[in-house]
Amino acid sequence: YGDPSQKIDYVFKLVLIGDSGVGKSQILSRYARNEFSLDSKATIGVEFQTRTLVLDHKSVKAQIWDTAGQERYRAVTSAYYRGAVGAMLVYDVTRRQTFDHIPRWLEELRGHADKNIVIILIGNKSDLEDQRAISIEDAKEFAEKEGLFFLETSALNAVNVETAFSTVLTEIF
Ligand code: GTP
Ligand code: MG
Repeated sequence: YGDPSQKIDYVFKLVLIGDSGVGKSQILSRYARNEFSLDSKATIGVEFQTRTLVLDHKSVKAQIWDTAGQERYRAVTSAYYRGAVGAMLVYDVTRRQTFDHIPRWLEELRGHADKNIVIILIGNKSDLEDQRAISIEDAKEFAEKEGLFFLETSALNAVNVETAFSTVLTEIF
């Protein structure tokens, strides 16, 4: 997970957004520390973690910001999006409502972020297949219509978390 002595060529700010409980903080914890917790607490305010990786012989530090899905705990919107070059827009594949709210998150993102921001739609909790409420096809269709990358992930089982971040980081790079 990165050698602290190495020099950094680029710092990329990414933001995580989506409803409360979809797994934003656990996706980040899986990516940055390879850790997962089932009794994760709701985020209050804003937190961030970093991970340094090498892309095309350059060292890139991904600085990933995570805020609360709950309105009352959210970070100041404009500050949160400022300087972000990538966004992970997360819903929970077992909760239809979290997918139905995606257009609102997208609207907020497009209203505040740079117009060239790279966005990936993420359906998290793919391990809960028997509780699935959104089909992969519906999500893919939405993502294509909006020009977003799309992947389903499981922070619990560490499925596609790496791929989701590397998709965004490679596209930015
Ligand atoms: P807020 O901070 O309130 O916005 O929520 P959040 O989106 O950060 O959700 P968080 O990461 O705290 O996860 C919410 C709950 O979902 C926790 O109980 C997690 O353990 C659980 N969870 C997160 N990712 C997964 C996953 O991939 N699979 C399963 N089964 N549970 C998950
Ligand atoms: Mg959180």
